[in-house]
Formats: sequence, C-alpha cells, structure tokens
Amino acid sequence: MNILAIETSCDETAAAIVKDGREVLSNVVASQIDIHAKYGGVVPEVAARAHVQTIIPAVKESLSEAKMSWEDIDAIAVTQGPGLVGSLIVGTETARTLSILKNKPLIAVNHLEGHIYANWVSTKQPQFPLVTLLVSGGHTMLIEVENHYNFKIVGQTRDDAAGEAFDKVAALLALPYPGGPNISNLAKKGDVNKYKFPVVDLTPEPKRNSEGFLEYPDPSLDFSLSGLKTAVLNVVKQSKSLSEQDKANIAASFQKTLVDTLSQNSQRAIEKYAPKSFILSGGVAANQKLREKLQEMCKELNVNFYMPDLKYCTDNAVMIGAAAYYKQKEFDFTEPKSLTPNPNLKLA
Ligand code: KG4
Ligand code: ZN
Repeated sequence: MNILAIETSCDETAAAIVKDGREVLSNVVASQIDIHAKYGGVVPEVAARAHVQTIIPAVKESLSEAKMSWEDIDAIAVTQGPGLVGSLIVGTETARTLSILKNKPLIAVNHLEGHIYANWVSTKQPQFPLVTLLVSGGHTMLIEVENHYNFKIVGQTRDDAAGEAFDKVAALLALPYPGGPNISNLAKKGDVNKYKFPVVDLTPEPKRNSEGFLEYPDPSLDFSLSGLKTAVLNVVKQSKSLSEQDKANIAASFQKTLVDTLSQNSQRAIEKYAPKSFILSGGVAANQKLREKLQEMCKELNVNFYMPDLKYCTDNAVMIGAAAYYKQKEFDFTEPKSLTPNPNLKLA
C-alpha cells in the first residue's frame, strides 16, 4: 500500500510516499528555519503563508522523487493536529481536496502518532507491549502502548516540554533558533559538572497511615521542567558577562540534567510496566546524549531499545505515512468532507 503523506503542523512543509508503513519511497521536507530564525521562533502567520506557497510543489516533488504518478497512490494521509491552526488548515485542505479530486481514501493522523510510528520506518520493528518516551517542542510524555493504536498516557509534563526547555535555554544563551541542536553542539565543548541544576522528582512525600507507619507512594512518572529553565536563568542573571566557555558549561550542565530527568522517569516506567520494548520519539529524540543514555539504560534493564533514524525524529511526512498505514488497519478511512484541523487534538 503506497500512502502519500502530508505534514504541515508547525514550520516544516513535508510530503512523502511510504510503502506498507516502513519503506520510504520519497521524503520531501521544506524547512522554514531561515524564515523564522530572524524572529527567534516560529511566527504562526508567516508559517501558514509559507505552507501555502510550498505544499503543492512539495507534493509534486514527493511523486517525482518516488518516480510515481497518482495511479500508484493508494491513499492520502495528513496531520490533523495538534499544531498551529493556520499551518494545519493548509495541510488538511490540501489533503482533502486531493482526496476528492484524485478519488483516494483519506487517513487523518495525530502528529504524536506520527512521531511514535517513526520507529516503524525500518527493517527492525518494535515489539508490543511497549513504552515510549515522546519528547518534542510541545509535548513530553511517557505512553504505554499495549498494541497498535492502543495508547495510554502514564506520565507527562506539568509545565514545559523538553524541546521547549531546550529552546528557552538557547534563547537565554543568545543561541539562534531552533535551540535543541545548537545547545547540544555547544555542550560538546562544556563541562557537565560545572553547574548543579535540579533533577526534579514529583513523587509525593511518604505519609503516616492511621497505624503510624510511613506509606511510600509510587514513584511519579510526571515531569516538571520549568524549574530547570529558571535555574539556568538565575545563573545567567547573576553573571555580568558570560564567556563562550561559560555558555558551553551551562549548555552541557543543562543538557545533562534534562537527560537525567527524562531517563529517571523512563526507568520508572519500564520497571512499572515491564514492556518488551522501549522506544524514543519526537524531535528531541535527535539529541545524541539522550539517545546514548537511554540505550545504555535499556541494556542494563534488559529491554529492547528503538529510536528513529535521525532524519525521522524532527517533523517530517514519512512518520505520518507510517502511522497512517497502521491506522487504516484499525479504523475506517476519514470522510474528506468532515475533516477539520484540530490544534488541540489529543492522543487516543
Ligand atoms: O517534533 P518536533 O520537530 O516538533 C514538534 O512537534 O514540536 O520537535 C522540535 C523540538 C524543538 O524544540 C527542538 O529544539 C528540539 O525538538 N530538537 C532537539 C534536537 N533537535 C531538535 N532538542 C535537543 N537536541 C537536538 N538535537
Ligand atoms: Zn513534531
């Protein structure tokens, strides 16, 4: 089954053709980084306009890169949400118009499902039941996945998302947008032990029961990452001027603390749910230190570890095509006339 997938939830205009959920026949990503960099972040209006200009050329390029014509396409998939509403409108309108014009079934996909299914774009497929750590610009979650499309959120951030923390700390250090890759590059030259930042644990304090014995609650799987950002802000405020080396030390110490926080709760989720595999997903999955740390942890805990190929971590349409393939096995196709973008679409 050849699925032509479209993704426009944020600032990448992407189109791809994926065969049977795992074989990539084409992968087109038109990044808007250059457009937004001068504003220090994504400007929603500007993003939507850029999508309008780029989406049709991107779809055409995905067909020509795969050396295919519309007859070879079996279905069209598109991100319905979550994301920026203006950006989502461009993708969903394009997909449903093409679906009606070309007479192809339509599959609406949740962007987060896409990130998770980036792990299936490979010859090696994760085994169920599994737990995934989903870390992106807008989300930080631990999700137990019993089987295809059977998601249960078992932990999530109560404030900032992991990617958001990277982006905000990058802004504090005057690094250009997007923050994640720039922080991790700078961190290579820094000392991870130079600053002590907090690894937040949201587990409640033990309480005495009616017989006077201490009762220990289950370790928390939720995250709180805004305190870490504030801790960095305090360091930046206290110093009159920061040398390049100071900035590198802050970047390295921040990254280590964030990676430790994410792996602390990941380990707890593995111990609680005893999954067959643990998979990493979302844009922050591109972070080398996080990849290494979780791989090592899973080895020690004897759990199979999977992570997407680097090019499928940050937003792309291949992951949407992969998620769509498994979705149409579980659910009906989407009626094109009824498809509406949903900026707050929830997982499951
Ligand atoms: O999944 P994604 O492309 O977009 C959302 O769905 O949000 O994730 C983007 C986020 C940004 O916050 C970006 O700074 C972060 O992923 N990111 C990284 C790295 N590459 C991207 N964070 C840390 N290290 C990276 N190498
Ligand atoms: Zn994303």
